[in-house]
Amino acid sequence: MRDLENLFSVTPEDIRRILRDFHSEMQKGLAGSDSSLKMIPSFVDRPTGTETGRFIALDLGGTHFRVLIVELDGKGHPAVVASGLSVVEKAYMEGTADGLFDFLAARIDDLFAENGIDRSAHFDVAFTFSFPVDQTGVASGRLIQWTKGFTTRGVMGKDVVKLLTEALARKGLTGLRVAALANDTVGTLVEKSYTDKDCDIGVVLGTGTNACYVEKLSNISKWKGGSSTGRMIVNMEWGNFNRLKRNRYDIDLDHESPNPGHQYLEKMVSGMYLGEISRRVIRDLMESDFLFRGADGKNRFAGKGSFETERMSLIQSDGSKDLTTVEQFLRDLGIHRSTLCDRQWLKKVCDLVSTRAATVSAAAIAAVITWMDPDLASQHTVAVDGALFEKYPGFGDKMKAVLVDLLHENASQIKMELSKDGSGKGAAIIAAVAASAMPKR
Ligand code: BGC
Repeated sequence: MRDLENLFSVTPEDIRRILRDFHSEMQKGLAGSDSSLKMIPSFVDRPTGTETGRFIALDLGGTHFRVLIVELDGKGHPAVVASGLSVVEKAYMEGTADGLFDFLAARIDDLFAENGIDRSAHFDVAFTFSFPVDQTGVASGRLIQWTKGFTTRGVMGKDVVKLLTEALARKGLTGLRVAALANDTVGTLVEKSYTDKDCDIGVVLGTGTNACYVEKLSNISKWKGGSSTGRMIVNMEWGNFNRLKRNRYDIDLDHESPNPGHQYLEKMVSGMYLGEISRRVIRDLMESDFLFRGADGKNRFAGKGSFETERMSLIQSDGSKDLTTVEQFLRDLGIHRSTLCDRQWLKKVCDLVSTRAATVSAAAIAAVITWMDPDLASQHTVAVDGALFEKYPGFGDKMKAVLVDLLHENASQIKMELSKDGSGKGAAIIAAVAASAMPKR
């Protein structure tokens, strides 16, 4: 137990080091020097709330693709008037660019058909594409690197807006104009800041993880253009932060991932990986005959990817004395005999892995806020989206506890607020702002 606790511990000294290293990587990223934080200018600032019109928002960022029709009333209330959600099959995640983008166009076409909208209807489109993109304009950007299990061929290095526009044309959706390309964190921040003027950081803690924040233009020394407000939202791509203490499980998982050497923080924090880290620990405990001794179905933890983060969530929410939900889960796996001690161990492993994730996320948030406001003189709302924060038992509370330990009474200046599915609506708002600067059609 002590060994495992050590392997997954994040000490107060580690947290302070994360803050320092974040600041130095942020500085380098903003200057355009080599850094694990790409610090990508998003070309947008926070909106005013007066935007109006109907927009299509597309959201591709993981296992699902969403299409939304969003209405902005000019009074700060974005409303979703129609929506469609589809699973992105493995064949698209691992196939060709045309296959993936034709799939996206077909889903828009489906939503139009369901809602009696003509294929040639005119709409401005916001494309939330939640992968590291080298943004070259408000509606253009090249994919730097796939994350979250995507390996689709022919996209890396290409302008994803161009790929989407070509697919829309192939489908006959000729009235659609892609007005904005946004990261999900940027959409999340923009949507929350519509109603909360203190919101200046957007975080996603889901399948992947990342954050963006509002930066002074004068600090983005690599940025050559102007901006009317003197500020811009910067997409940090913090999932790639690499100055972290990794243990043997992190190292093995990275080696066997489709993107070795990348996304170290993401691989320690996000929903795509927590289950897999826990599985590796449990497998080792079983192999050394420490867990489920003499039980059948031992190989159930042997298969890569066979223990999902949702399972950890379920296990940790079992508050019964005998851990009956955990017992049932093990039975379903074919492990019919488990002792209470086995089940407590299983729960403990999930706790260690998820507590480290919550601690590292909170440290990263503290790093960003103390970068913007070292004395914490102002209020900061952190808009957070993603299932880990929303659903994982105790995750948000652990994050808050880390902020209090680190910042003491100043932690009360920070408010973390769930922004459920804010990124789609936020992207529509960005499209509205961008479209207002484009030729009328
Ligand atoms: C991507 C980010 C994204 C995050 C959350 C990461 O894998 O690189 O662009 O914001 O996941 O979806």
